[in-house]
Amino acid sequence: MIGKNWTRKRSSLDIIAEFLASRGRQLDPRPFLEWIPIFSNDHAELPGDIVEKIIRDSYDDANPVVKCIAEKLASSFNILIGRVQKNQLKRYIDYERPEDLETFIKLVGAGDVDRDANAIKETCHEIIQSNAMLLERSQPVFWRLLDEAIETGNDDRVKDYLVFLYSRLLAFNENRRISLQFLFEQEKELIRDELSSRSGNDKGTNAYAEFEAFCNNPDIDTHAAIVSKFNQKYRDILEREDGTRDKKALVFLKLDQAMFDARNTKTEFYDHACSCVKKAHDLLRNHHALVISVENIISEGVNLKWDIYAQLTIFAEKHIPTRFNRTYYHAEEICADVLEHKLSRRITGEERACLKEIFTGHGENTLERDFSTFTRAGIHETIEFFKEPLSGFTFVDCYIIQRDRCFPNSSDIHFIENRNELLLVFYKNVVDERKVPCPVCGSLKISGNSYTEIGEKSWECKNPLCSERSKTNRGKRYSIRTIFMQESLHDFRNENLVPKSLIKVWRKDLVERPTDEQYFSMVIKYFTHPADTLLAINVRNPATLLEVARREERHVDLATIDEIIPFRGDIVGTWNRFWHGPLFHQFLYTTERDASMIEAQPPVPLQVMKKGMACIIHDDCIEVMRRFQKGSISAMITSPPYYNAREYSQWENLYNYLHDMHGVIEHAKEILVPGGVFFYNIGDIYDNERTVVKSTMGNKRIPLGAYIILLFEKAGFTLLDNVAWFKGEPQSNRQKNDGNFVPFYQRPTNCYEHMFVFKAPGPLNLAIDRSRNTLRSNVQKFSPVIKIGKGGVNRYGHTAPFPPELPLLAITCFTNPGDVVFDPYSGSGTTPIAAASTSRIGIGTELNDAYARLSVEMAREQGLKIIFLKRSGDGEYAREGIVAARDATEVKKQSTLDAFADAKDPEKAGR
Ligand SMILES: C[S@@+](CC[C@H](N)C(=O)[O-])C[C@H]1O[C@@H](n2cnc3c(N)ncnc32)[C@H](O)[C@@H]1O
Repeated sequence: MIGKNWTRKRSSLDIIAEFLASRGRQLDPRPFLEWIPIFSNDHAELPGDIVEKIIRDSYDDANPVVKCIAEKLASSFNILIGRVQKNQLKRYIDYERPEDLETFIKLVGAGDVDRDANAIKETCHEIIQSNAMLLERSQPVFWRLLDEAIETGNDDRVKDYLVFLYSRLLAFNENRRISLQFLFEQEKELIRDELSSRSGNDKGTNAYAEFEAFCNNPDIDTHAAIVSKFNQKYRDILEREDGTRDKKALVFLKLDQAMFDARNTKTEFYDHACSCVKKAHDLLRNHHALVISVENIISEGVNLKWDIYAQLTIFAEKHIPTRFNRTYYHAEEICADVLEHKLSRRITGEERACLKEIFTGHGENTLERDFSTFTRAGIHETIEFFKEPLSGFTFVDCYIIQRDRCFPNSSDIHFIENRNELLLVFYKNVVDERKVPCPVCGSLKISGNSYTEIGEKSWECKNPLCSERSKTNRGKRYSIRTIFMQESLHDFRNENLVPKSLIKVWRKDLVERPTDEQYFSMVIKYFTHPADTLLAINVRNPATLLEVARREERHVDLATIDEIIPFRGDIVGTWNRFWHGPLFHQFLYTTERDASMIEAQPPVPLQVMKKGMACIIHDDCIEVMRRFQKGSISAMITSPPYYNAREYSQWENLYNYLHDMHGVIEHAKEILVPGGVFFYNIGDIYDNERTVVKSTMGNKRIPLGAYIILLFEKAGFTLLDNVAWFKGEPQSNRQKNDGNFVPFYQRPTNCYEHMFVFKAPGPLNLAIDRSRNTLRSNVQKFSPVIKIGKGGVNRYGHTAPFPPELPLLAITCFTNPGDVVFDPYSGSGTTPIAAASTSRIGIGTELNDAYARLSVEMAREQGLKIIFLKRSGDGEYAREGIVAARDATEVKKQSTLDAFADAKDPEKAGR
């Protein structure tokens, strides 16, 4: 490790000059650096190798060592360390100041962890010693880059390297203690522009004067303390200007049966609930949370809980027509993607140019003049839609909360135990283009960097004095949200810290029996900071909420829904406008292909299939569904391709995906028997909808399940229930908070998928023999199929199979022996095999030849009879042969599936 030769006090310019000279570089740094202002000539006592240390720091040489120590502390001391602790440890490793290690020790002990200071110190030292080589590795890199710049005469580059060293050095030396006055002087022109330009009136001038008066203070303090005061005051002024101060840090809303009953119809209920969501958006501070508790609400014998989840989630995400910034929103591209799907053809270059004109506002009439295809109904509407696409809240999580007692389920499936309620979490993210000073140096010399996500503007500091310039002289990157999150990391009060005991209860998104106290503690401590004010609407057990809030130093405003948004004429129609609005027209449409008649085509030869047989049809599921007879399928069970999750499921954007899923659902309604069930397995996915941007800033959790519910309801299905498939907690110690035990860092592990029970119109089709029914509760725990063997090889042969327990739930509950069970996306054939092995007729369609053939193999292994069909040129389904069971013993062995069904049957299992 580099030694600690302390040295006399020198100016930073001298230090840099000596540093270069000592390495034999003939370079005078002064012309590159003298323009940078310094605060004082009071120099600090610094180690002789301070510049080397700065290089080590900025190249993050210590990061692998920090990681190694963090892992050791987690495994040996059960201490998870977050961003603040890691930065502190890195600081110690980089600069070797004993006081930094002491601070680190304090920081790891500041939470609710065990402390063992000496052992931790020893651990740190051992790991640092054994990795000493790593800490030197960037010095040659730095010199190589600097030499290259010098040799090629690239003065800009040379300046970048020197400014980065110098600005960091100043923070240790001349500028380690500064005054508000100094900071203000550096920034005053920009501050004046910013504070007066926005309002352009006296208000702005007053804001500037107020800020100037505040900064008229020559007292010096540490750099960090002055910047913190400066930034706080600046942000206070901004908040006062836009009324943020009066906004709520959290809106917590409960929807229950009483609220439902207070309205005359389901539509009125949704009008009211959606209006409440809209109002919450106005009432909330930016980047803060709306939390909605959805209780069990029964309407006409159907439990609406998951329907409410779907309606409110999509409404919340898409209810505000928004003019997005054209630097990232290229409406013509996004719109063309949707139009291509609608028109089932490519959009020509000319048409693209026309779209561009329309969206840049220069070509209102070009549309009718030049492109007759665009004038078709639906196409115009899409173009209009993308002028101001819908945005709103960002969906974050849906917790399923298991309670002690049972709640009523939909009357058709009253025998399926229902103990749960829902808790939905959304964030408000609205782009705020106002500048906020750099959190490190307080400068407004910043430029818009990009958008971290849609609704979040991020900045990059351009101040040469900033002490966090990167090795390539890039500035600190930050946003308003990262500022408040990171500031909270330095607040070690109990009221701000989230205790591990609470995280333990809420670490999964399927939560077992939280108490009211734990429930409110989570909501408050995960999504607000001390001193915040939250609004609780229609809350259950307000006494406990108030008690928790008092303990955690938050303020609560309690209100009824009618106080927040009275049910009046002006909110009538809110939901209808959404439900029949333009959003749905982007994916609920009929293409020429969808509409084409196929009566002349030969039907699927269902007559050759017998009870206990499986059939795999290698084709596009829509083609096959068009050839089934109306009402010929008893039940459908599937796990469709999840939007852009796998190699076989790639769509240009979410709307095109939803359109294709809608096609399957529409056909399902035709081919299912009246009251037949479609058992639909889907999970949320983290991806980009690509309906606003295609870059990673669009990445988010997409509530696919909510969209699917709406598609089914549009097609006339009834959602009876959602059976949560609890897949177990993933084996990892990622607590989804990276060791940061403060608000806004806590995320549960997503550990369930949806299995929706949709019923086609008509009385529900149920199994006659209910003794073999395995669907007895709407939470089912079984493990996913283990696919990956040694060396990461997929030994199963399919990338996303579901386990046979899943189709068996629906088969045993909603079908009888001899019934036809169909899976449009059958993959490795799990559904048809499960159906055949329980004396049904199991049919699956699969587009991928290898998967279709894998299904045949799987069925053979089960000893089942299986037919493999393929469409020939004349549209006829040709049989590639009935594959016989291998032998009698294997036929017996196949009854593992039956055995499973038996084991789940409490009587046969001897329970
Ligand atoms: C999630 S996987 C189904 C896995 C299946 N449940 C299993 O256990 O193996 C979805 C399947 O749908 C298939 N697929 C995608 N598009 C299709 C289409 N249009 N028609 C039929 N199959 C399709 C994919 O090849 C993939 O195998």
